[in-house]
Amino acid sequence: MGYKAKFRVWRGEGGDGKLEDFTVEVNEGEVVLDVIHRLQATQAPDLAVRWNCKAGKCGSCSMEINGKPRLGCMTRMSTFEEADTITVTPMRTFPVIKDLVCDVSFNYQKAREIPSFTPPADVRPGEYRMQQIDVERSQEFRKCIECFMCNNVCHVIRDHEENKTNFAGPRFLMRIAELDMHPYDVADRKDAAQEEHGLGYCNITKCCTEVCPEHIKITDNALIPMKERVVDRKYDPLVWLGNKIFRR
Ligand code: SF4
Ligand code: F3S
Ligand code: FES
Repeated sequence: MGYKAKFRVWRGEGGDGKLEDFTVEVNEGEVVLDVIHRLQATQAPDLAVRWNCKAGKCGSCSMEINGKPRLGCMTRMSTFEEADTITVTPMRTFPVIKDLVCDVSFNYQKAREIPSFTPPADVRPGEYRMQQIDVERSQEFRKCIECFMCNNVCHVIRDHEENKTNFAGPRFLMRIAELDMHPYDVADRKDAAQEEHGLGYCNITKCCTEVCPEHIKITDNALIPMKERVVDRKYDPLVWLGNKIFRR
């Protein structure tokens, strides 16, 4: 059965904006993105919203619904009471371009800063032989749809704009962990993780894991193991001795 829902939506460009109230029709089986589209079609034709697949796979429709990072296309209206007012705002950690659309280029910049997969020079594609467990480990991380909700929710940059230069965010620390765990990657990821990408800023609050729509265990399977790898390196007596001898 259809009903009329109360929506409060962020409207504005750049740093300026305000919440605007709307009453919008909702039909059975709809998701928040459906209602936003109806709002566009019937009352606010210039409302900006980014989306693409409407299937939870492109990562475009990230927004904050009642203050929580969610995919608009995967948030069923049936999870709310009919009397609820549903507040929809853009992701808070990135600059707003217009309405619900943010500039997420911070994330692309961080992606560019991570050197790509670096296999040994003497092994050619087709010659890699990996254990199944190594394949499965990275497969979990490869489920990422780059919605950037984990980076959006992490307090290290959500509450501290000044940390953005030094912190890649959970999505890209996970990418570094994935590469470091790859048996054929020979790049030195550990020092870079700590010194260039801010692994040490993560204090394991797990907010990133809680919001991941792909249910990737970002903290337990990527960030904590990566921290352990960095520490192992630091306290490995051979590495310590090597550093003493060669880094004078
Ligand atoms: Fe989104 Fe999860 Fe990928 Fe983070 S790890 S960008 S929350 S899919
Ligand atoms: Fe941030 Fe996730 Fe660590 S939310 S503090 S990166 S566990
Ligand atoms: Fe693609 Fe929502 S529109 S994830």
